[in-house]
Amino acid sequence: MAANSAPKMINAHDFRSDFPVLQTQMNGKPLAFLDSGASAQKPQSVIDAMNVVLEGGYSNIHRGLYSISQQLTGDFEAVRAKVASFIGANSEKEIIFTRNSTESINLVAQSWGRTFLKAGDEIILTEMEHHANIVPWQLLAEQIGIEIKTIPVLEDGSLDLAAFETLLSEKTKLVSVVHISNATGVINNISKIIQLSRDFNLKIKVLIDGSQGAVHTKIDVKALDCDFYVFTGHKLYGPTGIGVLYGKYDVLESMPPYQGGGDMIERVSFDGTTFKGPPYRFEAGTPAIVEVIGLGAAIDYLENVGFEYIETHENALRDYGHERLKEIDGLKLYGTHPDKTGIFSFGVQGLHHSDIGMILDQCGVAVRAGHHCCMPLMQRFGIEGTIRASLGLYSNQSDIDQLSEGLKKAKDMLG
Ligand SMILES: Cc1ncc(COP(=O)(O)O)c(C=O)c1O
Repeated sequence: MAANSAPKMINAHDFRSDFPVLQTQMNGKPLAFLDSGASAQKPQSVIDAMNVVLEGGYSNIHRGLYSISQQLTGDFEAVRAKVASFIGANSEKEIIFTRNSTESINLVAQSWGRTFLKAGDEIILTEMEHHANIVPWQLLAEQIGIEIKTIPVLEDGSLDLAAFETLLSEKTKLVSVVHISNATGVINNISKIIQLSRDFNLKIKVLIDGSQGAVHTKIDVKALDCDFYVFTGHKLYGPTGIGVLYGKYDVLESMPPYQGGGDMIERVSFDGTTFKGPPYRFEAGTPAIVEVIGLGAAIDYLENVGFEYIETHENALRDYGHERLKEIDGLKLYGTHPDKTGIFSFGVQGLHHSDIGMILDQCGVAVRAGHHCCMPLMQRFGIEGTIRASLGLYSNQSDIDQLSEGLKKAKDMLG
């Protein structure tokens, strides 16, 4: 499709003006921010919600008897209920606030894993996992001697589900899979993976890394029937320092604390300590109060935009982007499976991804260049890294055009 015959809808409803940073320039050019997969920009409403707390009603929560503390405690807990409804959980008690996806997965590995796994047990990951869903399990493997198996990735970036079925065994205790690959944008058929695991053995637990999934599509953890679903606030147009671990209540109830400290206990004495139930048992110490409020505002923002708009808009831009990238000679795209979101991961023959990234920067285009914390996937493709351009709900056709022009310039300068 030529640039001027693109469907009108791509820019039809532009939320850009809600994001102050997108009104700025980079290196004298309009900022084409194509790194939302790493961390998304924040709408004014999120910035305002956090400022309102800091300027007009900040205190610690859960323990103050005075009004502003009680008000903020109520607002904080209301976000827990909002997150539960956002992902279709049964109850707010299934929502644990963590620092990020990484901490959510470490919590499951160290609390559930250390309690329920033993030497010789197997867990199944995939070749496309982010390091956040590999390294915590490797640490656990060193500690207790579990074995890690991996579902292979096919040439188009999708998972080899036939191979997955052969990996399932009586020793399998956990399957932990990314929902949408941050490195290629490929969307995994997580419903099928959960179903295959359940059909094989109802006792197998399933964790879904939804760090990219929760951003691009509506999540319903009840319909999915996963045991754990994790995501991270800063990719969801919210602040850094706040993440979510969803867990089925009965599973969370069976798990011991991850860290000890204030706010997670019922009673402490030197003869012994008793703990609160989930989710508080897993939230030791003062939480990220202001960031939780920011996350709540981000969810309000997303729900106002609506996932129907987000998916339609991002898919139209994805298709437009694929067409424009075809104009670049020698460009190889990784992740060609049709079920994919707006992430373009590619190399250009004869050019190093870091050199391209630096020239794009001069053209006002922000992309990521490297392994994207997915070294095993890069090894699978036999490469060191890629250029990754990733879309957000505010991305538009000009961003893609600026990328395409920048790539042509990089080829001219470096080729
Ligand atoms: C798929 C995936 N999993 C996990 C993470 C880790 O997120 P965080 O660094 O916020 O913990 C990321 C971040 O890039 C990701 O894309």
